[in-house]
Amino acid sequence: MRLSVSDICFSYGKKGREILHKVTCDFPENKVTAILGPNGCGKTTMAKCINKINIPSSGDIHFGDRSIKDLERGEIAKIVGYVPQFSSAGMAGTVMEFVMLGRRQFLGWGIKDEDIQAVADVLERLNITELSDKNYSELSGGQKQKVLVARALMQDSEIYLFDEPTSNLDIKNELEIMKLARGIVDEHQKSVIMVVHDLNMALHYADYAVIMKAGNVVEHGDIKSVLTEKTIDEVYGVKTKIEDCGFVNPFV
Ligand SMILES: Nc1ncnc2c1ncn2[C@@H]1O[C@H](COP(=O)(O)OP(=O)(O)OP(=O)(O)O)[C@@H](O)[C@H]1O
Ligand SMILES: [Mg+2]
Repeated sequence: MRLSVSDICFSYGKKGREILHKVTCDFPENKVTAILGPNGCGKTTMAKCINKINIPSSGDIHFGDRSIKDLERGEIAKIVGYVPQFSSAGMAGTVMEFVMLGRRQFLGWGIKDEDIQAVADVLERLNITELSDKNYSELSGGQKQKVLVARALMQDSEIYLFDEPTSNLDIKNELEIMKLARGIVDEHQKSVIMVVHDLNMALHYADYAVIMKAGNVVEHGDIKSVLTEKTIDEVYGVKTKIEDCGFVNPFV
């Protein structure tokens, strides 16, 4: 499902300064899209607009041909599997129970064997089966991050929106999540939107990029065309060399 953002403006509070200034971009279907940009430029703010946690003061967002204005948050939750950058989820309960919550719209009167199997399958897909009976609140930061991704996968959404899903992960787990994102698109024909800071991971695993700076979208398009040495300098103020193998080398 195609997602498009048209001319949205957003401020926190009535008198707050404007954070998003007429942001326009699209997120094509069946692609991995990376949202890139410096700290504080408005990536999370836009992700929250897409989830209707933030309501823009003007502009519109469309899921296919449906405007966000005509959708309740519950309906959006079925379309978008969202993993927030910071989760305040402090839950007493096991990982199995926590991930099961992602499936609540499928649960009938009780939890059936197939529900338990579905959770077990997702935990295995993320290589965290051994965490199944642990208390969520006692996990490490990286373990929690993977469990949050697992919970989002249970929703079987059209679009997955991950806000820095790899920020606490070691390189092996980071690669696993990036490959998982590719698999969601290539094997399940869904769309993945992810906020990432690692330009190399983005360039290697994403198809498309939305590049932001100071509340504006500077570029959006095929990642190999828009993520250039010139754009990186313009947006981050960092000189790089993109090597022939596609490695973004900042040590120049
Ligand atoms: N709840 C809030 N109330 C007021 N201002 C906020 C709030 N959340 C974010 N901001 C401000 O909005 C701006 C954009 O923040 P946002 O979290 O969207 O940035 P970001 O691009 O996700 O940054 P990062 O890469 O550090 O996560 C920042 O100046 C921030 O201080
Ligand atoms: Mg953020």
